[in-house]
Amino acid sequence: MNTKRISKSLLFFIIIMCSYFKISAQMKFDTTAKIQALVKQLTTEEKVKMVHASSSFTSGGVARLGIPEIVTSDGPHGVRPEFGRDWNLDNNSLDSGTYLPTGNCLAATWNPQLGYAFGAVLGSEARFRGKNIILGPGINIIRSPLNGRNFEYQSEDPFLVSKMVVGYIKGVQDQGVSACVKHYAANNQESKRFTINVQMSERALREIYLPGFKAAVEVAKVNTVMGSYNKFRGQWASQNNYLLNQILKKEWNFKGFVMSDWDAVHNTEEAYWNGLDLEMGTDLRMLPNPDYNKFYYGDKLLALIKAGKLSEYILDDKVSRILYVMFKTGMIDGKLKTGDYNTKAHQQTAATIAEEGIVLLKNENNILPLNRNNIKTIAVIGFNAARKQSMGGGSSQVRAFYEITPLDGIKNIAGNNIKVEYAQGYEIQRGGGANQQMIDEAVALAKRSDIVVYVGGSTHGYRYDLWNDNAYDAEAVDKPNMDMPFGQDELLDQLLKANPKTVVALMGGGAIDMTKWISKTPAILQNWYAGMEGGNALARILFGTVNPSGKLPMTFPKKLEDNPSYALGEYPGDTAKSLIVNYHDDIYVGYRYYDTYKVTPQFAFGHGLSYTNFEYSNLKLAAVGQNVTATFMVKNTGKVAGAEIAQLYVHEQNAVLPRPEKELKGFDKIKLAPGEQKTISIKLDENAFKYFDDLKNEWVMDKAAFDILLGGASDDIKLRSTIKL
Ligand code: BGC
Repeated sequence: MNTKRISKSLLFFIIIMCSYFKISAQMKFDTTAKIQALVKQLTTEEKVKMVHASSSFTSGGVARLGIPEIVTSDGPHGVRPEFGRDWNLDNNSLDSGTYLPTGNCLAATWNPQLGYAFGAVLGSEARFRGKNIILGPGINIIRSPLNGRNFEYQSEDPFLVSKMVVGYIKGVQDQGVSACVKHYAANNQESKRFTINVQMSERALREIYLPGFKAAVEVAKVNTVMGSYNKFRGQWASQNNYLLNQILKKEWNFKGFVMSDWDAVHNTEEAYWNGLDLEMGTDLRMLPNPDYNKFYYGDKLLALIKAGKLSEYILDDKVSRILYVMFKTGMIDGKLKTGDYNTKAHQQTAATIAEEGIVLLKNENNILPLNRNNIKTIAVIGFNAARKQSMGGGSSQVRAFYEITPLDGIKNIAGNNIKVEYAQGYEIQRGGGANQQMIDEAVALAKRSDIVVYVGGSTHGYRYDLWNDNAYDAEAVDKPNMDMPFGQDELLDQLLKANPKTVVALMGGGAIDMTKWISKTPAILQNWYAGMEGGNALARILFGTVNPSGKLPMTFPKKLEDNPSYALGEYPGDTAKSLIVNYHDDIYVGYRYYDTYKVTPQFAFGHGLSYTNFEYSNLKLAAVGQNVTATFMVKNTGKVAGAEIAQLYVHEQNAVLPRPEKELKGFDKIKLAPGEQKTISIKLDENAFKYFDDLKNEWVMDKAAFDILLGGASDDIKLRSTIKL
């Protein structure tokens, strides 16, 4: 290429770039100008209408200026069934849609691309149903195994959450729907969620509880954030100056708007000053005859502004933020996308996430995958095997277009030559013991079958409606303990005696105490709540059509007493004495605790088995300034294709402030054919080596030696090397 041609192309490139920046700057300017113009035309009454709900899931619009109502819907793993305007579940609506696996199953895939695919399905279906905002993702850190909402959340690890949440949000928002990341912040228990006051160090806040939200704002550009119910350092989270004004809006430069959780506002002035833009759900207090003008941001706000007691420019900022999101999503001055509903592709996404998210925890003597040549009869036992879970759990309920239970899935795959029989085994009743007649039936079936697939564990609750006292893994209630509920320990004990070839698949939002039977059972799978295709996914894994590749996004301790919120911190707090819950466990959440305090868990963070084996080799580290690239090789040494999730942890030698034994700072999911080998690079920037210094109130990096640990789980480090930075 001669110089003339090069300079010509360069010139062309510069012109294109200039016009691109000019156009986008112009568009930005136009939108800002349009927002300002609209705000000018709005009366105070109209602006007030826009900052509070107009029904259970909508907020006020101003028809005369073409400002629509905002229509929101739960929730994290599907578009919630329709409600009438005032909280009546509308049973006549055609609202059964795609039921995706729950948040922790998604996180267990460790596959950010699936995060995007998940979000895209949700966004598309939300749009089809006329929604503007989907109330998800829920990303609170999994601190205690007892939190009733862990199933909706993702992980105990802030880095994994940060990676998964970005894809999810972009997936939703690319469909022209706003995501709403929730519940900001420190909403890590359901017990007393409306009253507790969470106290934690600044370091724990910055290192553990905020990074997911920060990534949602800074990287994914989430349009809306939901403030939580609890207090944080003495002030309600939905009207918390530090969380909303200082951190979210000032430090992170959040451009969208903050809505309250439903019925989380307590005071007009405090909410107004401290950063809450939209008040939702206060009508819950006024049922059955809600009056939307009686919201804290209704008549009362109007009167305070009119009396000159509250400045109107703050209201203008709130309204501008709402309008900004409306412009961004095409609600004003644009074209709304239409979306799709119940497509085969959406169902396939649900299936893939379940297949990649179900975790094989134990597999002794390769009892799995099942060999169909050796099996004539399968006993499927356990209430969860035949139970539909989609409508349970609270606000995240979904009316599924269909839901393949594990029993359905096993029947689908078994074919004509294998006989599948079912026994329920136990009843779902909080505090209920084993039902001897059911046990006898199940034991008899186990005895006469070649193999038993037991599907039990936790459950979303007892009725197919909202939460209630019998609920486990449901909103508003935490689990009473980590025990297998409903007398299942006793049942499993008898089943394992009747047929030692009993494979256990557990549903639930996380850890459950397995100590009574784990040594006797040859195989265990963590099934989570795996969505509408969950039963097929489990069956494909059992039969080896799919090679499992999920890994635990949270530690499974042996006993509740081993969990750091129990051992070091307070959970759920002595709420009889005080409503303060002290997070004395500090930054030692999940594996950060187990590794540092040398407590051996039942299954470690990042653990998950495959039907093949992977070999790691050749770790090399290269640094340019504070940026480090770790290069290594992973080989599939087995006979079947599989995927390995290589995890990179950083350990700092002799850190100035105490640090956890290791911290996840990178991962990659690598798909490999039998015998195949790939070279993998994981890049770390300086943030991978920093920690938050409470005294300096900033992120710091020591001049130190850092060990880079690589492996297939937090307790299975295969390669290590050290670098001085
Ligand atoms: C939940 C939120 C949910 C809202 C609306 C609240 O009770 O905490 O997660 O989005 O209700 O249903």
